[in-house]
Amino acid sequence: MSDSESVTKALSALHAGKLVAIPTETVYGLGADASNPLAIQAIYQLKGRPANHPLIVHVQAPLEYSQDKAHDWLAILSPWARHIPESAFVLIEHFWPGPLTLVFQKSRLVLDAVTGGQDTIAIRSPSHPLAQELLRGFRGGIAAPSANRFGKVSPSSAAHVRSEFIDQDDLLILDGGDCQFGIESTILDVSGDGEPRLLRPGSISPKQIKEATGINVSIDPIKDQKIPRVSGSLKAHYAPNTPLHLYKQGLSDFLQSIKQGRILDQSIALVVWEDKNLHDLAQLKELTKKSKLIQVPKEPIAFAHGLYRLLRLLDQSQYQTIYIPSPPSGEGWDAIRDRLQRASFGSGPSSINHPSS
Ligand code: TXA
Ligand code: MG
Repeated sequence: MSDSESVTKALSALHAGKLVAIPTETVYGLGADASNPLAIQAIYQLKGRPANHPLIVHVQAPLEYSQDKAHDWLAILSPWARHIPESAFVLIEHFWPGPLTLVFQKSRLVLDAVTGGQDTIAIRSPSHPLAQELLRGFRGGIAAPSANRFGKVSPSSAAHVRSEFIDQDDLLILDGGDCQFGIESTILDVSGDGEPRLLRPGSISPKQIKEATGINVSIDPIKDQKIPRVSGSLKAHYAPNTPLHLYKQGLSDFLQSIKQGRILDQSIALVVWEDKNLHDLAQLKELTKKSKLIQVPKEPIAFAHGLYRLLRLLDQSQYQTIYIPSPPSGEGWDAIRDRLQRASFGSGPSSINHPSS
C-alpha cells in the first residue's frame, strides 16, 4: 500500500472514531480525533492510563506562510488555546513543526477528557511528513499519547507499536519508519505569566532554546500543586520488565564488582560505551560468558535515537539484569538521564506497581 493509500485509510478510521498509531519524529503516538469523547476514552482504555493524565493534541503546520507567520499559527491554535503569549510565538516560529510541546491555557471548546479536566492544554505540531499529511487531511486535532501501555517503553518504530498491542489485530498503524529522535518531545509550560517552564526534558534542550531565541527556560522543579501532572514525571516510567541498573563507576571498577560478586553467574546484558578500551572488553567477555555485551555511542543524539529500541530488545531477551552506564553530566544528556532514571526505578516484572512521585 502506498503512503497516500495508508493515509486515506487512517483518515477514515479517525473519522469513524477509531484509534490509529501515527509516526512522529519523536516516538509513535496512539492517535484519536481530539473532538470525539468516545475516541478519547478508547485511548485511555487501551493504554491503561489514568483518566487525569492529559493528552497532547497534534496540529498541522500552516500549508503556506503569509507575511505574518504568527497569524498563520494563531488560526491553527485558536480552536484549542485561549491565550498565546508573545514568547510562545517566538518558540513556535523557531521550533514548529518539531519536537517541542507547548502547554497553553485551554479554549472552552476543548473536551475535558483530553486535558484530564485541567484548564491547560498541551499542543505540538510534529515534523514527520506522514504525520503532517495525516493532519492536513484530517483538518482537526489528533490527540495522541505515546503508543505504549502506561508506564512502559515508548515505541520508536511501527513494529514496536505492534508488539505493544499484540492482541489488537484491528489497530491501524501508519508506518513512517524509524523515529528520527527516538525520545519524546520537550514540554514547556507557557500558560503562566513568567518564563516558560520545563515540564519534561526532550529532544530540544533549554540551551538550544536560549541560543535560538534568547528565551530563558525555567528548569525549577514544580512545587505548587496547581501545576498539571505530567505522567512522564512519575518516578517510575518508560520501564522494561527486566530489572535495569545504572552503574556509575568506570568499567574497570565494574569489572572488579563482577569478579567479587554474584553477577558472574548471571545472564546479564551489559551496555558499555563505544570508547571502552579493548583490554577491559576482552576481560569482560571472558568473565561474563552467559552475558551479552552491547556497545553504545557516547553521544546523546545517537544514543537517544537507539535507546528505546535497545531497551525493548534487551527486555525481550530475558536477561536477569540489564546494566547501563549512567549518562555523563551535561545538558545534552538531560533527557536521556531523565528517561533512564525512571526506567530503572520502574523496572522489573511488577513495574506498574512502583510508587510514583
Ligand atoms: O513526543 C511526544 O510528545 C509524543 C508524541 C506521540 O507526540 N507524545 C507523548 O505523549 O509523549 P505522552 O502522553 O506519552 O506524554 C505527554 C505528556 C504526559 O506526561 C502528559 O501528562 C503531559 O504530556 N501533558 C499533557 N497535557 C498536559 C497539560 N495540559 N499540562 C501538563 N502536562 C501535560
Ligand atoms: Mg508516554
